[in-house]
Amino acid sequence: MKSKLASLLIAPSILSADFSCLAKEVAEVEEAGADWLHLDVMDGHFVPNLTFGAGLVSTLRPLTQLPLDCHLMVSRPEQWISAFAEAGADRITVHAEATVHLDRLLHQIRDAGCKVGVSLNPATPVSAIEEVLDSVDLVLVMSVNPGFGGQKFIEGALSKVEQLVRLKGRRKYLIQIDGGIQVSNVAKCRAAGVDCVVAGTAVFAQKDRKKALQELRTAAQSSGRMIK
Ligand code: DX5
Ligand code: ZN
Repeated sequence: MKSKLASLLIAPSILSADFSCLAKEVAEVEEAGADWLHLDVMDGHFVPNLTFGAGLVSTLRPLTQLPLDCHLMVSRPEQWISAFAEAGADRITVHAEATVHLDRLLHQIRDAGCKVGVSLNPATPVSAIEEVLDSVDLVLVMSVNPGFGGQKFIEGALSKVEQLVRLKGRRKYLIQIDGGIQVSNVAKCRAAGVDCVVAGTAVFAQKDRKKALQELRTAAQSSGRMIK
């Protein structure tokens, strides 16, 4: 059997979208071939910025078929899981740094009927989540300090991706990377083992979203990564 180039999942982050016409922005990236819609929830406490809550998720839910990938950059995420699940989140990713009882929180997400993600800030080692890798569908490696779009990619994220690939064994979790993703660095993310990239400015700051997504996919293919 011929091996095929593995396809990259792209999750545009609405953080860089034009909120005055959000429905149109979302329709445009869906039409352009995005795989998931990434929703950055910030509470002004865990990160130095404020965005939106579950209300926006329920507003977007009927407007798109795309899986809603909610990245909770909030303190005490425990108190918000049911609200996001009820609002229509498909995936909920929480930060290992944001809770004392990570194992319990991940099960709370699963019990609420959502795919389970755990995220690491740039200063947090992979060892912080080794004990919970059996309980997750996705690991999100932050390649910027969370809080803002348009920041510079932190190279150290790549070695964490490689560690997560080595640790995976028979587990099926996806590896996602978030922050500073551009056409110029997507191939090395892919080569390290990333399955899904979050792209804010790389998609929403471009006029032609279809072209932006296509350029990311083409650049990723130059890593030559094959389906195993
Ligand atoms: C940063 C957010 C990111 C952000 C990425 O805290 O988690 O999802 O939107 O934006 P870019 O792709 O512009 O770095
Ligand atoms: Zn994010």
